[in-house]
Amino acid sequence: MMSEIPVKKKRQCQPGPPLPANPEDHVCFPGVVLCLVEKRMGASRRAFLTALARRKGFCVEGANSERVTHVVSEGNSGEEVVEWMKRNGSRSVGAAGSGPALLDLSWFTESMSAGQPVEIKARHCLTVTVHEETLQGRCQVAAYACQRHTPLAHKNQQLTVTRLNLILEGSQGALEAMAEESLFCGSEGRSLAFSRAASVLKSLPWTVRSLKDLSSLPGIGEHSRRIIQEVLEDGASAEVENVRQSERYQTMKHFTKIFGVGVKTAGRWYQEGLRTISDLQAHHAKLNNAQQAGLLHYRDLNSPVTCSEAEAIVQVVQKAVEQFLHGASVMLTGGFRRGKQTGHDVDLLITHPTEGQEVGLLSKVISWLDSQGFLLYHSTYRNTLQALEDEELSVSAATMDRFDRCFSIFRLSSMTWEHDCELNGSGGAHCRKAVRVDLVVTPYSQFPFALLGWTGSKNFERDLRRFCKREKKMVLNSHTLYHTEKKIFLSAASEEEIFQHLGLDFIPPEQRNA
Ligand code: CTP
Ligand code: MN
Ligand code: MN
Repeated sequence: MMSEIPVKKKRQCQPGPPLPANPEDHVCFPGVVLCLVEKRMGASRRAFLTALARRKGFCVEGANSERVTHVVSEGNSGEEVVEWMKRNGSRSVGAAGSGPALLDLSWFTESMSAGQPVEIKARHCLTVTVHEETLQGRCQVAAYACQRHTPLAHKNQQLTVTRLNLILEGSQGALEAMAEESLFCGSEGRSLAFSRAASVLKSLPWTVRSLKDLSSLPGIGEHSRRIIQEVLEDGASAEVENVRQSERYQTMKHFTKIFGVGVKTAGRWYQEGLRTISDLQAHHAKLNNAQQAGLLHYRDLNSPVTCSEAEAIVQVVQKAVEQFLHGASVMLTGGFRRGKQTGHDVDLLITHPTEGQEVGLLSKVISWLDSQGFLLYHSTYRNTLQALEDEELSVSAATMDRFDRCFSIFRLSSMTWEHDCELNGSGGAHCRKAVRVDLVVTPYSQFPFALLGWTGSKNFERDLRRFCKREKKMVLNSHTLYHTEKKIFLSAASEEEIFQHLGLDFIPPEQRNA
């Protein structure tokens, strides 16, 4: 009996709380725009004070708003406020008193009780003694993505749609196209360099407008700089356009979009003169099981997975897991956890608070899902890969092979893709969609490491590992954190604790879109 996963209509994923817009109809003091500094105040107190101020008719906006006139903070020095504001996208705040007023919370509380903005007195004001250059230096863009905040959308996107946005626009971006092309050519180092440059640009809370702006940025190599220059000057890069038009790039892209086909296979097919999917069929190209499934569901697997589809899959996996192990949890990770509204797949982490209970769970869950007709394809691995990668960690291989994963294709049914489904609307016929799902089962003690490892983005993860190795003499993977000099494993009960071990400020998932 085929079961089908019902999809709820239009529920939004929760990417974390941005500052909601000020209700326009309730602003009593149009000349006053507040910004509350979250540092030391904390997110919940900030939200509370924001709501209070708005109820009293004050306009409150984010640090990146150019309208801010009063910056209010609690327990910070003037320098700290300037640094925080700049890091959060402020272009107007400056050292030595230029820009909006930097005020202590006392001004805010007095204004709230007065029901209007009170006059600014000396005792309300924070002073800034540090030099502008020093502050500028401190606000410099950090070298590793794990030290930077990288939101999904560039902060100035709505304000200033510049030609550089061509570079910043996800997979269509010039630098990212070059990174992809380099991979297709087997030049991993070159590819990394382009990815890193793109990732630095994505983290900027301001817009690059000239080559001069690049001088303070890390990780922008000569070639990337050339491409950025072309885009700044001409609106597009001839080199990138040539790549995009090339038969090789287009074919490689086409082939690598087949689930199960990597650069190696695609490259071989290209060498053999194959160009299209019908060529593969006509030449009886040898396909493994994954590739056959990939070809069969090519169209579905290359149309974006939505939040509501992801949530429907969480529900069905939760139901399956619950049957075999009461109290086990299923968590959505990957791009959706970073706040993306669509993804190429659904990444799920499964665990149970009692260590050891999770052993053997994955195969039971897979069998059940399969028997219910939920699976179009699945392939299960016992994970020993990472242990082999990191020599030091092979000592703990015993704990690692308990870490199971499954790459699968789910069969999702829905009434929601009206544009995609001709049958829909003709009397309740369901349309179906194949969706890629990664399932990972982790022992509870490794859960924070797995969560950090599977949340991504890939650039973020890469830099996190590079940072650990180079700066901290540690090895991090999705299971553990190991100190190579002290020769100890560092345990953690949360992602926050892992960041603490590494001496890094916590970067919330929605800021890991490097
Ligand atoms: N990952 C991994 N091992 C793999 C595949 C992925 O550890 N074999 C991790 C990667 O570190 C990545 C995360 O899982 O950061 C999510 O990978 P993926 O689903 O490929 O990317 P997303 O960021 O979720 O992007 P998308 O929305 O397109 O799925
Ligand atoms: Mn994903
Ligand atoms: Mn994935």
